[in-house]
Amino acid sequence: MAAEPEAPTQTILPQAVGEDQHAASKQTVDPWNVAGAVDEHGKVQAIDYNKLIEEFGTKPIDDALLERFEKVVGVKPHHLLRRGVFFSHRDFEAILDRYERKEPFYLYTGRGPSSDSMHIGHVIPFTFTKWLSDVFDAPLVIMLTDDEKFLFSEKRTVEEVKAYARSNAKDILAIGFNPERTFMFSDYDYIGGSIYANITRIAKRITVNAASAVFGFDGSTNIGKMGFAAIQAAPSFANSFPHIFGDNDAVTTQIPCLIPCAIDQDPYFRLTRDVAQGLHYAKPSLIHARFLDALGGPGSKMSASVESSAIFMTDTPKKIETKMKKYAFSGGRETAEEQRALGGNPDVDVSYQYLRFFLEDDEELAQIEQDYRSGKMLTGEIKMRCAKELSKFCTDFQERRAQITEETVDLFMSRRPLVWRGSEAVKTL
Ligand code: TYM
Ligand code: TRP
Repeated sequence: MAAEPEAPTQTILPQAVGEDQHAASKQTVDPWNVAGAVDEHGKVQAIDYNKLIEEFGTKPIDDALLERFEKVVGVKPHHLLRRGVFFSHRDFEAILDRYERKEPFYLYTGRGPSSDSMHIGHVIPFTFTKWLSDVFDAPLVIMLTDDEKFLFSEKRTVEEVKAYARSNAKDILAIGFNPERTFMFSDYDYIGGSIYANITRIAKRITVNAASAVFGFDGSTNIGKMGFAAIQAAPSFANSFPHIFGDNDAVTTQIPCLIPCAIDQDPYFRLTRDVAQGLHYAKPSLIHARFLDALGGPGSKMSASVESSAIFMTDTPKKIETKMKKYAFSGGRETAEEQRALGGNPDVDVSYQYLRFFLEDDEELAQIEQDYRSGKMLTGEIKMRCAKELSKFCTDFQERRAQITEETVDLFMSRRPLVWRGSEAVKTL
């Protein structure tokens, strides 16, 4: 495993793979690496998400599940669900069952503060989680794993990762979470008390062999990394948060959570679900997103430490336009004439992919796909349409981000009771 968790992406960008390299390899997806398979000609393939569903043993999100969602919750599924960005799950039905029966559950997600800048990919799970928290009226806990980013990096100091956690907290809050039902915490600040009791309960049930098999650790791995799985697992259990759910363990250990994240985080929660069984705690449910491709093209993940790999939330419209022009992988043809005659391929086109994630208007998206495929729309045009949409997304975000004060962060991070659809009921259970 790489010492620098985010660096590996660099080596697997399509342009970084020489045509004369013939080392075919399989796709890799884990918390530190996301790389498409490489074929015998050295060409990087897009991530095969169906294969991930098979390998990880998760379930696809199909039309029947979306219909059930709409029926039970009474809200049209978010475009990230309708368009298959959230494509896989574990026991999502169990959460819908509980919603239907008005039984409590909560949402859990997180961020590893590895730098000051979050890219547009990081915002995907958070945007979706905010929407879920709103439509379910469910409490949400957001973990900032500053400790993880210290343990998994050669260079970063504790002081640095703490500062990143604070600035990332502001970025996340700019997405618009409701203070009544959202608790955010950094590991360095919050761990102790009930959550630490859970961390040790979990750690005791994970052997060195199990952690090594799941995460690829070996004898040279520092012991902090070994133990980190138990830390990321602990917020999956409601008794880690007595200020939210009360301190009756017989009740709280049976309140499940739903974890929205990109599929790279699944290994942690596979392990968590095994441990839950042994502890007789409610197993967490999961809902998994695909990755937003790096600018360089399908088969790779954006990296917060490679400027040209991603659009950052802090980028200006001008910068976004330049990056799209210069770096966005195109599914178009060599020349405008060829494009007009033969059409482009939206399936691998980065601009089209980004529009699928960020353009809410279904009709316009369908029109763009049709025009691009037929050759009516040229590469330059789709790039500019995409730059316009992303500029709006980032500019709106930056305006909200400017309103987030230290006091806002302190409020969300304070240990307090939350208020949601079932909060009164939980107290009387
Ligand atoms: P981190 O900070 O690497 O990523 C934060 C969230 O963003 C997802 N993600 C992406 N989604 C779509 N496209 C991309 N290109 C992309 N890159 C990253 C990640 O899957 C994640 O959901 N260890 C975690 C923090 C954490 C956490 C959690 C995340 C702790 N507990 C529970 C989710 C759920 C981390 O460093 O995430
Ligand atoms: N381990 C994650 C990472 O490095 C951060 C994380 C912690 C996380 N808890 C999470 C991500 C829960 C998704 C869901 O990427």
